[in-house]
Amino acid sequence: MDLTRTATRTLGAGAALGAGLAAYAAAEARAYTLREVEVPVLPSGHDALRVLHLSDIHMTPGQRAKQAWLRDLADLRPDLVIDTGDNLAHQRAVAPVVGALAGLLEVPGVFVLGSNDYFAPTLRNPLRYLLPDDGRRNTSSPHLPWRDLRRAFEDAGWLDLTNGYGTLDVGGTRIAFAGVDDPHLRYDDLSSVSGPADPHADVRLAVAHAPYLRVLDQFAADGYDAVVAGHTHGGQVCVPGIGALTTNCDLEPARVKGLHRHPADSAPGDPGSSWLHVSAGLGTSPYVRFRVACRPEATLVTLTPR
Ligand SMILES: [Fe+2]
Repeated sequence: MDLTRTATRTLGAGAALGAGLAAYAAAEARAYTLREVEVPVLPSGHDALRVLHLSDIHMTPGQRAKQAWLRDLADLRPDLVIDTGDNLAHQRAVAPVVGALAGLLEVPGVFVLGSNDYFAPTLRNPLRYLLPDDGRRNTSSPHLPWRDLRRAFEDAGWLDLTNGYGTLDVGGTRIAFAGVDDPHLRYDDLSSVSGPADPHADVRLAVAHAPYLRVLDQFAADGYDAVVAGHTHGGQVCVPGIGALTTNCDLEPARVKGLHRHPADSAPGDPGSSWLHVSAGLGTSPYVRFRVACRPEATLVTLTPR
């Protein structure tokens, strides 16, 4: 047997397999998908409300396909947009984000920002996505122009829920909101928004970038019907048949994306419990542009009568 030739063939097959996996993971990161879910939180007799949940866009100016896909979302004609942050991934990303969301900015909306809106991305170990949170945070890289993004959103009438409250009347339904600044950086000031949710509203929604348990616990205890968050990227690198290995926060992987209850074992109507919707988001760090078994997504969340 020619061992040299056999070893060369094995190495060649391994390299081809690796290249194939890399091509798949890069293509998966561009396979933008619209997911749909129903959440029964409205009082009986109210018309259903269609809420578009966007998160973790991580935009760079050259991402034309993502910009075109986002622009087309306006055709859904949602009643409300919730943007849970990490819109930016580049110093010149504000105009592409605002341009791609132009149609959606004509719709009522609320937003919070994430750590990646504040700080420029840095090159990090890709294996980080397979490992538990190492506790390190990127707060030393240059600031991104998040104030310009916030101004554009506010000029369009979107409500900034950064450690704040607000109320919107959407299609005859009065929605009370509360939100926090990014819990991943411990920027959340829960004391500023804690307390019983507005009992006069028809539905109460809470918003955060990262779904840390302390935030979910507080909003559920305060009577919010649902908490809406992003940040996890759905695990980004998932194992087919098993799922996410990490959430990049203290939420367990079983609730890394999609609609769940909080606490996880609660049922609708249980005191101190709420719905939890986590988006797997639309982007990735520009230095780690791959996803495995975890398509980038936006979600059309239809609020229906209980
Ligand atoms: Fe993100």
